[in-house]
Amino acid sequence: MKPSTILRKLNAQEIQEQLLPAEQLNRRAQQYSQRAQLAVILVATILVATLLAGVLTHLFILPFGSPFLERVEVLPSSANICTDPCRAVLVESIPEGMTYEDNSTINPSTFQTWQNLIRDARSSLDIASFYWTLTNDDTHTHEATAEQGEQILAELMQLPQRGVSMRIAVSTPKSKQRLDDLQALEQSGAVVRKVNMGRLTRGVLHTKFWIVDKTHIYLGSANMDWRSLTQVKELGAAVYNCSCLAQDLGKMFEAYWFLGLPDASIPSPWPANYSTTFNKETPLEVKLNGTDASVYLSSAPPALCAEGRTEDLHSLLSIIDDASEFVHIAVMSYLPTMEFSHPGRYWSAIDNQLRKAAYERRVHIRLLIGCWEHSKAAMFPFLKSLAALNDNDTHYSVEVRLFMVPVDEAQAKIPYARVNHNKYMVTDKVAYIGTSNWSGDYFLRTAGSALVVSQSEANANVEPTLQEQLLAVFKRDWNSKYSRDINTLGLRENICNIH
Ligand SMILES: *[C@@H]1O[C@H](CO)[C@@H](O)[C@H](O)[C@H]1NC(C)=O
Ligand SMILES: *[C@@H]1O[C@H](CO)[C@@H](O)[C@H](O)[C@H]1NC(C)=O
Ligand SMILES: *[C@@H]1O[C@H](CO)[C@@H](O)[C@H](O)[C@H]1NC(C)=O
Ligand SMILES: *[C@@H]1O[C@H](CO)[C@@H](O)[C@H](O)[C@H]1NC(C)=O
Ligand SMILES: *[C@@H]1O[C@H](CO)[C@@H](O)[C@H](O)[C@H]1NC(C)=O
Ligand SMILES: *[C@@H]1O[C@H](CO)[C@@H](O)[C@H](O)[C@H]1NC(C)=O
Repeated sequence: MKPSTILRKLNAQEIQEQLLPAEQLNRRAQQYSQRAQLAVILVATILVATLLAGVLTHLFILPFGSPFLERVEVLPSSANICTDPCRAVLVESIPEGMTYEDNSTINPSTFQTWQNLIRDARSSLDIASFYWTLTNDDTHTHEATAEQGEQILAELMQLPQRGVSMRIAVSTPKSKQRLDDLQALEQSGAVVRKVNMGRLTRGVLHTKFWIVDKTHIYLGSANMDWRSLTQVKELGAAVYNCSCLAQDLGKMFEAYWFLGLPDASIPSPWPANYSTTFNKETPLEVKLNGTDASVYLSSAPPALCAEGRTEDLHSLLSIIDDASEFVHIAVMSYLPTMEFSHPGRYWSAIDNQLRKAAYERRVHIRLLIGCWEHSKAAMFPFLKSLAALNDNDTHYSVEVRLFMVPVDEAQAKIPYARVNHNKYMVTDKVAYIGTSNWSGDYFLRTAGSALVVSQSEANANVEPTLQEQLLAVFKRDWNSKYSRDINTLGLRENICNIH
């Protein structure tokens, strides 16, 4: 499509979305604060009424009864409390051939986690996915490390005959993409719907999550690709025995499922049953591994967010804004642009927020960015510009390192592999595990999602919190031999092999 055609196709609302995200967010925030004020008035009214009733009871009925203050504690509790015994586990794929120091933090593998989820499934498995290449027929290589992907596909295909209903939402494949896996799954009894985000929002369905028996979930960076198990570095989270969270993620799946119908259009507003009460303002209150946690799921793009759903960009910006000590970010790619727009457009929402945190609150910012032959050349000057803020005199602290997955001769022949595909952020308060690259397109046009967890500090002798575990992963990678400070690169050094 010619740029002029694309420009003409932008309607006023979309232009606003691109140019004024901050104002939009402000408007949203105002709506929320109005609602919050209403809620405060309501609660205050109930409180006063209860107090009055207490006083009256105290005065006239129970002259020697219990003090009325005790009655106030019996106020109706929030509907966002969940009593499921949820357990959360960080899940990683570490590409073959990578080694860390002894005693480095290690997490269960994506392969093992997926295999366990499949084996435990009793009634249903819903998968939201970008594309499927679990066998290495796509590369015409005969890779021994494709075996894990092939195993996952084989086990998935057995689910329908075990009575487990399987639904797969996938981004509408490009014409040259192979469909073998999806066809095989359909033949085995899975139902597949292709979601045409290109037509709907000029993006793709980039979300990656699983929901098992409406009780367990996986959400993270791993695609349904054999390389995501053995050749690409991935990070995600599995949450077990957590039906309240799984059902909320289910609403996001149902939205994709609806949009996968032929000629579907995006409802505005979404019907009430897609809405949620779990969000940034009123998260789900649940125990994760026995420790109190506040949890919510965010979603992109804005058009896919039903009433009450926190937009992914809004979530990410507010997490940076709430940090008081540090913000550590590990993403495959970082660009303050709409990278898929022609002509290119500058898009600074996240970049501004990072600079603001470094300047106004002296928050320590660290970015660990994936680096491979497909990295965009434009990424590096923007990253260097962020790192240029680092300054001992003013105590602005912004550091940028590039992470390179090592490649041997045989591995170099595998297309689209050997990269750090992580998409997470950890601050002094929050663990944010997402599915999006960090550039404007992913938040405004492409379907993505994130799990956001904050936990009160765990007691000394119990298990670490998810935030602590994620911080350990970040530190391991930041200090590893695979990371390199962007400032130490020579002028002509092309460490990522960018063409
Ligand atoms: C690993 O941890 C053990 C036990 O805490 C310790 O004895 C050992 O020295 C550590 N090894 C390294 C290489 O740090
Ligand atoms: C989930 O709950 C079941 C039944 O109570 C239990 O057997 C299982 O170990 C739990 N899973 C996790 C990961 O805690
Ligand atoms: C909402 O209700 C419609 C009609 O019954 C149904 O098709 C859809 O799946 C529901 N959505 C959710 C999120 O449950
Ligand atoms: C994420 O970013 C990288 C680098 O720009 C790109 O190669 C990759 O295709 C992106 N992912 C998707 C799904 O677009
Ligand atoms: C800033 O301080 C650190 C630690 O004290 C030091 O290693 C570094 O060289 C200083 N950088 C500059 C530019 O002065
Ligand atoms: C939660 O419990 C699971 C196993 O039950 C464990 O693997 C995981 O590391 C724990 N997560 C945290 C954050 O402590």
